[in-house]
Amino acid sequence: MSKTLLISGHPNLQASVANQAILALLADEPHIIVRKLDQLYPDYRIDIAAEQQALLAADTVIFQFPLYWSTYPAILKIWFDEVFTYNFAFGPAGDKLKNKKVILSITCGATAQSYHPGEFNFLPLSQYLQAAVHPIKAAQMTIVDEVITFEMNSTESEGGNADQVMQLVRTHTEQLLQAITKTNQ
Ligand SMILES: Cc1cc2nc3c(=O)[nH]c(=O)nc-3n(C[C@H](O)[C@H](O)[C@H](O)COP(=O)(O)O)c2cc1C
Repeated sequence: MSKTLLISGHPNLQASVANQAILALLADEPHIIVRKLDQLYPDYRIDIAAEQQALLAADTVIFQFPLYWSTYPAILKIWFDEVFTYNFAFGPAGDKLKNKKVILSITCGATAQSYHPGEFNFLPLSQYLQAAVHPIKAAQMTIVDEVITFEMNSTESEGGNADQVMQLVRTHTEQLLQAITKTNQ
């Protein structure tokens, strides 16, 4: 059976609505191994060997994170900086992750419409994500699917609505599970 690893890049799941709820729904899926970076590394000191071992054991890796300034939160950036090392993820002998499959699972607070020229976020999200996916592509991993949901900010003072976010969470998680099933076929 294919092994699926989920790397949670939320910096504080205790304060999260969307990511915490997605992970809670996935907890019933015994074949998905979840690594919550905020809980494993509250001091941001990454155990590189443990992370590389987890990656080596996986066939499919899901990166689950809230969009922060149109990329992933700092804890996931540090994770990539430290774990995707020379001759592991890139370099002459750096093929250890080659051909592993990747699914991006991203929650966004903004509207889809805002990611257009002239709008608040002024570029398509796919353009912002190029730098974020650079290490994944450099490691010769294959991005097989993306599940991206907009308007998942539940902070009422910022115009959010927790009930609406929970509905979006259910749809997002269903889409993610479908993506995993398709990937593992
Ligand atoms: C520091 C910070 C930066 C953010 N930047 C963006 C952004 O650039 N685009 C966007 O759509 N949402 C942005 N958001 C909103 C978050 O993506 C949204 O609140 C989050 O996905 C909701 O998930 P959670 O409840 O698990 O935290 C930002 C939130 C924070 C805290």
